Amino acid sequence: MAGTWDELVQEIKDRLDIVDVISEQVVLKKRGNSYWGLCPFHKDKNPSFCVTPHMGIYKCFSCGEAGDALKFIMKTKNIEFKDLIIELAEKYGLEVPASHRRGDSSLGEIKEQMLAATMVAAEFYHDLLLRNKDANAEIALQYLNKRGIGNDIIKKFHLGIAPKAYTTLYDELRKDFSNEILEKAGLVLKSDKGGYIDRFRNRVIIPIQNENGDFVAFGARALEKDQNPKYLNSSDSLIYNKSRLLYGLYTAKDAIKKDDAVILMEGYFDVISSQAHGIENCVASCGTSLTPDHVKLLSRYTKSRRIYLSFDTDSAGQKATKRGAEIIKEVFAGLGDIKQFDESYVSSDKDKYACEIRVIAPPEGKDPDEFVRSVGADAYKMYMQNAPLFIDFQLNSILQEKDNYTTPQEKAQYIKQIIPILAEIKNRIIRSEYVDMIAQTLSTDPDAIRSEIRIFERANLPQVEQIVKNVTKNDSVLKKAQKNLLSVFLVPDSPFTFTQINEMIGDTTFDDEILINVKSTIDKLTYTVNNVKELIEHLYTEFVDNAQAQAILPELIAMSEVYRGLNDEDFRSVIKETIDKINHCRQIKETEQIKKLYKGIDDDDPEALKIQIQLRDKIKKNRQKSEKFR
Ligand code: UTP
Ligand code: MN
Repeated sequence: MAGTWDELVQEIKDRLDIVDVISEQVVLKKRGNSYWGLCPFHKDKNPSFCVTPHMGIYKCFSCGEAGDALKFIMKTKNIEFKDLIIELAEKYGLEVPASHRRGDSSLGEIKEQMLAATMVAAEFYHDLLLRNKDANAEIALQYLNKRGIGNDIIKKFHLGIAPKAYTTLYDELRKDFSNEILEKAGLVLKSDKGGYIDRFRNRVIIPIQNENGDFVAFGARALEKDQNPKYLNSSDSLIYNKSRLLYGLYTAKDAIKKDDAVILMEGYFDVISSQAHGIENCVASCGTSLTPDHVKLLSRYTKSRRIYLSFDTDSAGQKATKRGAEIIKEVFAGLGDIKQFDESYVSSDKDKYACEIRVIAPPEGKDPDEFVRSVGADAYKMYMQNAPLFIDFQLNSILQEKDNYTTPQEKAQYIKQIIPILAEIKNRIIRSEYVDMIAQTLSTDPDAIRSEIRIFERANLPQVEQIVKNVTKNDSVLKKAQKNLLSVFLVPDSPFTFTQINEMIGDTTFDDEILINVKSTIDKLTYTVNNVKELIEHLYTEFVDNAQAQAILPELIAMSEVYRGLNDEDFRSVIKETIDKINHCRQIKETEQIKKLYKGIDDDDPEALKIQIQLRDKIKKNRQKSEKFR
């Protein structure tokens, strides 16, 4: 029996998992009890978007956007509250109270019918092929068999045949579906004569499933050599968005989870052959290049976000590899370092990196489909086990061309493309090793390469430093140093507890009224919060009515990024340097004030001499002190 509307809303709220909901659109990384990612509501280069599952809320500490799972869907999908509740009720099979039900041809209803039509079409095409019911089926079966695809694979992937005739599917489906639905689902086209004809004809049908296993679209392979295009794909529709769907994901997702890795391929048949030969964790985009949404989709299934790119080995495939890697990096930028070297012997921490990109590129120059069929799945798995990290793949392919560049000018130009790659390596020792290795291979001066990297880096300052520079450029050095000192409390993975940091800060005081307020609030909160994220959350709540204080929080968070990843010793010395700087600035300021006073004194006044001597001493003392910090 249907309950009240409020009960339905509550039931839906209980069922929604905010991390699942948000993960569909934002790559989240767990830290402590919360999840962090790049905010989808503004251009975020550093993760300031926080999801707190036990409270069921999200909040962006940079732009301030906040709410629960329902609000998130409403904002990102631009959908009204009532429509969303009805849609979710349909999804969960919950009854909507009569008072809130919508008319028959509502959006939800249309989608339902489109899904049903696509499903019936998939079954119809499949049945024609499997039971060899159509004249074309025999040709298709022969074609597939030649590609190493037998009945079991046909069944597993629900492959089908679209006959040559113009209205085979239409004649079947028009009994149960309206023209509007069939057209919307991309199954038929309006013909010139005003009737309808089948969209796919004389092709092998590859049904495309969404994550839930619903058939939502088709890829269709030409059967004849001169038939164009080679693949005809469904267009996007209400139930199909090719930039957010990956072919094979429904059948691959368990394996992706289990192996904690995914292989990205280029074509439908690459995935079909690989999965059929026991390489289960592979997917492909459907007639479109890889998008950030594809990558986000994948990151929900692999915890360590290990992504293998297995594209064609020709030059187009190489370009796709590079572009794919760029997109992956873009999606994960700001979430941490991208794995740049193999260190399994140093650390087994799987979740240390934002992501790991590897390239499977067997030298045979075949696509995965051909490779698996002709060389074998075991050989493919070997290449996978030894797949180089993207950076090594990239450097290797550049180094292979070294003999084409001989004059100093050519060589300088050629080496230029290596510089940004090397600059990406965060670890200085590893970077240095790479520089030496490359310098040796190219017989050039490693110091010259190092200096080129420095020039490149200066021109491409990391975003955080840029932000900090921008926000603090109007601050005095003293204020900047004081903000820096406060930001130390907000370093996500700091090696010290709040108490230890407070001990190091000692009795260093703050001048600015807002900074004094922030510091005392931090002091108060550190007794109750368990970690930095909680501290940040509570700071925001504490300052709800203090816009000025709230406004400097993102600034402090951005500044704190600079201290991330420091070890005990470095962290300690950064704090000490900052305190020294504050003291130094203060003394200069004090001296300036004394000088001003000194100038104003009347020499004839008997008291003046005394004051003059005192002031002179003080200036001298301050000068000595400040010299220590120069
Ligand atoms: P390829 O041209 O590399 O084909 O396209 P393939 O996968 O090796 O196909 P076979 O082995 O000749 O059958 C790779 C992918 O690009 C898309 C398809 O998704 C295809 O699987 N594509 C290609 C199209 O969408 N349309 C085309 O006309 C060609
Ligand atoms: Mn192929």
